Amino acid sequence: MGKFQVIDHPLIQHKLTIIRDKNSGTKVFREVVDEIAMLMAYEISRDLPVEEVEIETPMVRSVQKQLSGKKVAIIPILRAGLGMVDGILQLIPAAKVGHVGLYRDEETLEPHEYFVKLPDDIASRQLLVVDPMLATGGSAAMAIEALKKRGASNIKFVCLVAAPEGVKVLQEAHPDVDIYTAALDEKLNEQGYIVPGLGDAGDRLFGTK
Ligand code: PRP
Ligand code: URA
Repeated sequence: MGKFQVIDHPLIQHKLTIIRDKNSGTKVFREVVDEIAMLMAYEISRDLPVEEVEIETPMVRSVQKQLSGKKVAIIPILRAGLGMVDGILQLIPAAKVGHVGLYRDEETLEPHEYFVKLPDDIASRQLLVVDPMLATGGSAAMAIEALKKRGASNIKFVCLVAAPEGVKVLQEAHPDVDIYTAALDEKLNEQGYIVPGLGDAGDRLFGTK
């Protein structure tokens, strides 16, 4: 089974409270989602491989460390995943970005795929699939299936708020995928929204309704 980690650093908890607040408008919501994604990227990148490199400091020649091995690609699930991309790029600026477009049918809660555009070397990259919300888990599971179908195998899923139901669905569908979230909430309501949650992430991020 992949790792399941709640990244509950005090800065992240504080910022998450800001975006949960229904009085936070689009500007604040967007800025703070980016900040949380950046802070999470610091923790998620902890196990990136490093290699030794010989350099010259102003004092001596010296063997030091640099990132090596697998390159990263960030895969936002449209739309709301887009809000997390820039924050992660601040820490991993050379990452490529692929897109998977899914929407959830409001009646059945089933996800529907409408767009997939990926870097052509995803099979050799460490993929970070990002979406603020892991609710029923249907969207995340389908997005990851779409990536695996195209050759991806090294995948981490990163969200801001997860429901226990979604974590279970995703772990069962993709036991090889590590899951990182900033919070594990109480439950889903009858409409498939996370409670306490933060509402509709896409609408709050883009100011739609
Ligand atoms: C939201 C969210 C996830 C999905 C989570 O997207 O951004 O992608 O719902 O729900 P699930 O775990 O039950 O599948 P939505 O379908 O509302 O699309 P949007 O991002 O375009 O608003
Ligand atoms: N999608 C959202 O944007 N919010 C939820 O609470 C559940 C699914």
